[in-house]
Amino acid sequence: MTGTNNNVPVGIIGGTGLTSLSNIQITGEETVTTAWGEPSSTLVRGQLGDQPVIFLARHGNPHRIPPHQVNYRANIQALHDAGARVLVGVNAVGGIHANMGPAHIVIPDQLIDYTWGRASTFFEGELEDVTHIDFTWPYDQEARQVLIDAARAASLSFSGFGVYGATQGPRLETAAEIRRMERDGCDIVGMTGMPEAVLAAELGLRYVSLGLVVNWAAGKTDHIITMAEIEEAIAQGMSGVRQILERSMAS
Ligand code: HPA
Repeated sequence: MTGTNNNVPVGIIGGTGLTSLSNIQITGEETVTTAWGEPSSTLVRGQLGDQPVIFLARHGNPHRIPPHQVNYRANIQALHDAGARVLVGVNAVGGIHANMGPAHIVIPDQLIDYTWGRASTFFEGELEDVTHIDFTWPYDQEARQVLIDAARAASLSFSGFGVYGATQGPRLETAAEIRRMERDGCDIVGMTGMPEAVLAAELGLRYVSLGLVVNWAAGKTDHIITMAEIEEAIAQGMSGVRQILERSMAS
């Protein structure tokens, strides 16, 4: 991936629908622990083309940890300690923007955090000084451009911008909550984008989000959101996510 030394691994955090990466050549698997506890899954080391990668399943493998109970600090610390310096977080999201329907891919450039009660900083406890990191641009611009170029080269339906609204879950939103988020400027909604992005920033890691829209957000259609519809969009759209990952690692 551009901007990284090819010997430095890229961390890939797989979300709903991406608990493993079939196209990596696996070279090892490690069970690790951190000062913050255990990450969601083992770290799978491998090669995606020439690029060493470390894959972590955010919800565990098999998928069992809900978004509000993911140990985000352990996940980010584990990837950092394993040597990753760029992280790609793959997120299943709901579409709010009219152009961002099911199976569309979004590489957001901004976020709004609506989560609460999550352990969302490494800076706590006995600190020598108080740290306020800059978070003006929550996603790494260079890594975003690599994903955008890969999506374009693969001729996928995607948007290279967007505001990710991070909600607490595990329930989906009400129609009024989505209307409020739309007024706030959110284009997509998901439950895992935060505190992942800020924790990466606190450790000085370059972080980028790759969102796959798996449903229209609440109230955007005249029907309720079903798991069947979400599963169908995952089946339809995850190959695009895999293509972007493969192509972006090759560049
Ligand atoms: N809302 C929040 N998180 C989600 C959604 C949604 O509609 N779809 C997938 N993750």
